[in-house]
Amino acid sequence: MSRFLAALRRQRVDTTPVWIMRQAGRYLPQYRATRERAGDFLALCKNPELAAEVTLQPVEILGVDAAILFSDILIPVEAMGVPLAFAEGEGPRLEAVKGPQDLKRLHVPDPAAEVPFVLEAIRILRERLPAGVPLIGFSGAPFTLATYVVEGGTSRTFRRVLSWMYEDPASFRDLLDLLAETVTAYLQAQARAGAQALQIFDTWAGVLSRRLYREMALPVTQRIVRALAPLGVPVILYVNGCAPFLEEMAATGVDGISVDWRVSLTEAAQRTRGAVALQGNLDPLALFGSRATVEREAARVLGEAPPHGHIFNLGHGILPETPVENVEALVEAVHRLGKKEI
Ligand code: CP3
Repeated sequence: MSRFLAALRRQRVDTTPVWIMRQAGRYLPQYRATRERAGDFLALCKNPELAAEVTLQPVEILGVDAAILFSDILIPVEAMGVPLAFAEGEGPRLEAVKGPQDLKRLHVPDPAAEVPFVLEAIRILRERLPAGVPLIGFSGAPFTLATYVVEGGTSRTFRRVLSWMYEDPASFRDLLDLLAETVTAYLQAQARAGAQALQIFDTWAGVLSRRLYREMALPVTQRIVRALAPLGVPVILYVNGCAPFLEEMAATGVDGISVDWRVSLTEAAQRTRGAVALQGNLDPLALFGSRATVEREAARVLGEAPPHGHIFNLGHGILPETPVENVEALVEAVHRLGKKEI
């Protein structure tokens, strides 16, 4: 079995596995070249051959222990009936769902019919990935997807989505339910097409209080995780700013939780009592200094992590300006410093 899947199952490994959120991305010149050939970012997501090519790049260039399907969390949202565009350098723009009256615009898409390119990319990748490097499929979680659907893009204050949630929680839950049904079918389809692990990104759930996380984000996440259980594919849950919710995240039944840099892995291990594998949690900004700093920070994270059941990663996606040589140094340092005595 691969190091990544063994660690996710909290089994012994020869050294700590490592992959990087947004590992196929703009910091890599090879990625920028392929995106150019595709035309733009969305065209790249919808071209299975080129999406597979960029998915493989970090495996070949960096030697990471897992590949993550190249796509975006907003792809199934577009298929639900929310027109999507990416303006160069500006992030996503969606035709916002402003309130309950707009919910009838949305439907739960059939993945095989409406996002076939995602499943095709997975099939291509399963043929091309080297042995021992599993493929991670992924989706956004309902709350995080709701922030994009309601705000119409990335937000700093989340004013529209949070005021809907406070003003009319019943219809906001209807939106979350529609998204949960979409995510469930989407992840089931990815697993059936060959994804060997699944990561659920609830990136913005960290803006919620613990009470509202329990009331709004948690129940739909739990429902998705339960629906995936019969497939036997391990699941990782990521929340940026997860410190208040570690216990709740572990109780969803996921195999691993992906932790941002604001909480130590030692504290995360204590509070989750070894019930889940831990992924993380280097600050992406630690990759901007010298090679010595990268090594020192990698060693610190490894020192705080449990010896088994740890997958090294960043606490959030890698930034486009990150020097590639520091990312190479990070992967090398994790593999060298993470060696176990077997
Ligand atoms: O991790 C990987 O390498 C797999 C691919 C992946 C992308 N986005 C590619 C991408 C994954 C797993 C995502 C998830 C995603 N997308 C999240 C959740 C994780 C996180 O980082 O918080 C979110 C919130 C999105 C939505 C999204 N997509 C935003 C806000 C942006 C713009 C941000 C930016 O850096 O410009 C994107 C675009 C995006 N998704 C890019 C990539 C490589 C950059 C687009 C480009 O190439 O021009």
